[in-house]
Amino acid sequence: MRRLAERAAVWLGRRSLRLRLTLAFAGAAAVLLGSLALALYVSFESGLDGGIDRSLHASVAALTSFAHEAGPDLARLPLARAGGSGSAAQILDSRGRVLDSAPGLGHAALLTQSQIKAALRAPVHAGGRALLASRLKDANGDVLVVGVLLGQRNHALTVLGDLLFIGGPIMLLLACAAAYWLAARALAPVERMRRRAAEISGGERDVRLPVPDSSDVLSRLGETLNEMLGRIADAVARERALVSHASHELRTPLAVLKLELELALGADRSREEMAAALSSAIEEVDRLTRLASDLLVIASAEQGQLPVRRVELDVARSVRTIAERFDRIARTQGRSVTAGAGEELIAALDPDRLEQAVDNMVANALRHGAGAVELESCERAGQIEIHVFDDGGGFPEDFLPHAFEPFTRAEPARSGEATGLGLSIVLAIAEAHGGSAGAENRPSGGAHVWVTLPRAPAEGADLGVSKYATA
Ligand SMILES: Nc1ncnc2c1ncn2[C@@H]1O[C@H](COP(=O)(O)OP(=O)(O)OP(=O)(O)O)[C@@H](O)[C@H]1O
Ligand SMILES: [Mg+2]
Repeated sequence: MRRLAERAAVWLGRRSLRLRLTLAFAGAAAVLLGSLALALYVSFESGLDGGIDRSLHASVAALTSFAHEAGPDLARLPLARAGGSGSAAQILDSRGRVLDSAPGLGHAALLTQSQIKAALRAPVHAGGRALLASRLKDANGDVLVVGVLLGQRNHALTVLGDLLFIGGPIMLLLACAAAYWLAARALAPVERMRRRAAEISGGERDVRLPVPDSSDVLSRLGETLNEMLGRIADAVARERALVSHASHELRTPLAVLKLELELALGADRSREEMAAALSSAIEEVDRLTRLASDLLVIASAEQGQLPVRRVELDVARSVRTIAERFDRIARTQGRSVTAGAGEELIAALDPDRLEQAVDNMVANALRHGAGAVELESCERAGQIEIHVFDDGGGFPEDFLPHAFEPFTRAEPARSGEATGLGLSIVLAIAEAHGGSAGAENRPSGGAHVWVTLPRAPAEGADLGVSKYATA
């Protein structure tokens, strides 16, 4: 039995969802309708039989009371009255012979002797009649038998039985066909989505699955899948843009490098010219190395794999050290880089990445900004914040939302060696720590760029997926 059930489950598991839904519906409907039909039939039958029982008992009671009044003179019993409308009455003696009979019954006894015994207790069905017997008092064991024809009752039951047990299954089959058709209709949007999904090759940007025009689980599934397709398309587009920008950025220093080396190789080069060409070539190689490592940071962040080696450190002190380092260079240009003498700020951060992020922000303030550069580190709501302020012209307003995207520069023509990766690396580092970065223009002029970093990694947090969101 168990093996049979297991086999049935395996068989069902291999069928289509549509068939399984229909079969489940058919099973439930068959059990429900079957038990309803059975209950209806049984209660109708017992209602009919109850009515017949009551009328038999009433007839028996009426006739026996006449019989008692009549005493032994049975001929005075009004059996003739019982003869109409399918009723029957007979008086049998103790050996089962007919003593008296209602008209039209003939001389055959309605009940055999063994049937009389049963009919004395409850109505008995015999010869197409329901019959009830009662012993007459002081009449040497004579028995009064009263009966009614069962034809109408049986006909009513046959009609009801045909209706329920032949018509019912036909209705059930029709309902199953309707359920099969409905299931097909309900699942059609899934098939449409599947077909479109099979056509998507990955190259197209704006392909979406057809979402059914309803507000049920299927339309929500379609919308969710479309949102996912949108995110995948964005990620692919970002990746392509990154590759094309990267190759573009690599071409220029490589071309310059080749030129320098060709110059150095020239036949009539003096020693000084050769040294100058080679040191220029070394500068290009440095630039290429920087670009390669910046690209590596961006690419790892894109994959959510920028490594973060957390160490307990005093952020305020690290920021002061960076400020001092930049201040020495800034002084030669008549500018300054200062850090407020903040209190100790202990946090678990990657010291190298932190330095890289702050370096990029300060380098920007020196390169793109003007005036004094101020650094500030503090803690707010459990987050470490590092702010860099300068007194330059600030960001162009329309560029601000794109400042953290890789390879974006406000004025590419005038950016010289700048590649536009600095701020995207700042954001990637912040996000790898579970934090964020932002930029704004100060009301007094100049730029304000900051990073926010959680003091310690959040429990079970998924850190490091960089999206280059605008701050
Ligand atoms: N402090 C600032 N003031 C004004 N503009 C800024 C400032 N910092 C950044 N920018 C603008 O944002 C752009 C992007 O900065 P980002 O650091 O990403 O790239 P970059 O400095 O141009 O190049 P890289 O840092 O890769 O050498 C800059 O080109 C500049 O136009
Ligand atoms: Mg920069």
